[in-house]
Amino acid sequence: MQVNIPLKQVVDNSYDITIDTIKPVHFDTKVAIITNPKVAGLHLAYLLSKVTAKELYIITVPDGEEYKNQDSINIILESLFNHKFNRKSMLIAFGGGVIGDMTGYAASIYQRGINFVQIPTTLLSQVDASVGGKTGMNNSYGKNLVGAFHQPKAVLIDPHFLSTLPSREFGAGVAEIVKMAVTFNKDFFEFLESADLKDSDVLQEAIKQAVQTKANVVAQDEKENGIRAALNYGHTFGHVIENETKYKKYLHGEAVSIGMVMANETAVKMGLMDKNEALRVKSFLEKYNLPVSYKISDSESFYETFFLDKKSSDSQITFIIPVGLGDVKITDSCDKELVISVLNSFGES
Ligand code: NAD
Ligand code: GLY
Repeated sequence: MQVNIPLKQVVDNSYDITIDTIKPVHFDTKVAIITNPKVAGLHLAYLLSKVTAKELYIITVPDGEEYKNQDSINIILESLFNHKFNRKSMLIAFGGGVIGDMTGYAASIYQRGINFVQIPTTLLSQVDASVGGKTGMNNSYGKNLVGAFHQPKAVLIDPHFLSTLPSREFGAGVAEIVKMAVTFNKDFFEFLESADLKDSDVLQEAIKQAVQTKANVVAQDEKENGIRAALNYGHTFGHVIENETKYKKYLHGEAVSIGMVMANETAVKMGLMDKNEALRVKSFLEKYNLPVSYKISDSESFYETFFLDKKSSDSQITFIIPVGLGDVKITDSCDKELVISVLNSFGES
């Protein structure tokens, strides 16, 4: 005997991403702003001058990637239960990617899912983490290994918040911007090359183009069954660097910067990218003080660490290799010898 549950429903989860000064908004429901002490100290007063609600609560969790864990999720959930949040209530993620990912995850599991809005305050979260509905937390097995796809109802990107961002954090965001350009949009890369991201109009345009690029990818492949994996360009190598340096030496975007240079050198060796194109990307990263070299002490052990990557299986490693500027190849058949030779010669010239 069989009982079939027909569940072929079409759900419209579309949402708008607004890149502008936040306009005053009132929510006729219970709202909790999830943030951390640093972001609250710098920007909560500004946010509260714009956002009002029937009942408004502030929930703070400790600042830092090391607190992107179950303890912080529990702080959020307990507060929601204490304030009797219901399925019509709403969360606002107010902070960088750590706050965004955790708020989205808490929203995805609280009473089986409530709405949330992203108000990202770092460049990295404005151009990448707040868009596309990947939510989650870390555990003792690794980063972002627990989570859910849960799309926000809206993303409000206000460049005002970036005025207080430390320069390394700014650079980390630039790395994710250039990732979008190299993988999907040569014109965008050339715009970036010719402009100065310290100029606020240029930065706003770059945020818009990065977000548009990511939105196009997510619209085609929300759950990362294909093309969305290309957004991990630089990450396969970058994750090994983060792992080897125990997540202490480099910000994520900085490790991705080195990883993109490694991916480009692999592409050059595979005949998929011109040497000059690889050099242009490297020079761009250097212009924003992003690291582009890394001392690999043991290429074999570096290679073995690729297998810890979420995209890899026991026997295959998925590499994201650029094809010139503006195109990309997702492959699990990169020749090991070739990759090892890239790793052996990395940083030599
Ligand atoms: P983060 O959230 O840790 O923020 C970096 C630091 O900047 C923190 O100390 C934060 O408190 C502080 N900060 C935030 N806004 C500030 C401001 N306006 N002025 C001054 N300081 C400010 O780090 P991040 O780089 O924003 O995000 C990294 C996280 O994002 C990682 O956990 C990563 O896994 C996740 N991520 C998620 C996605 C996704 O698609 N969901 C994509 C990329 C990255
Ligand atoms: N940051 C990669 C993604 O959102 O898919």
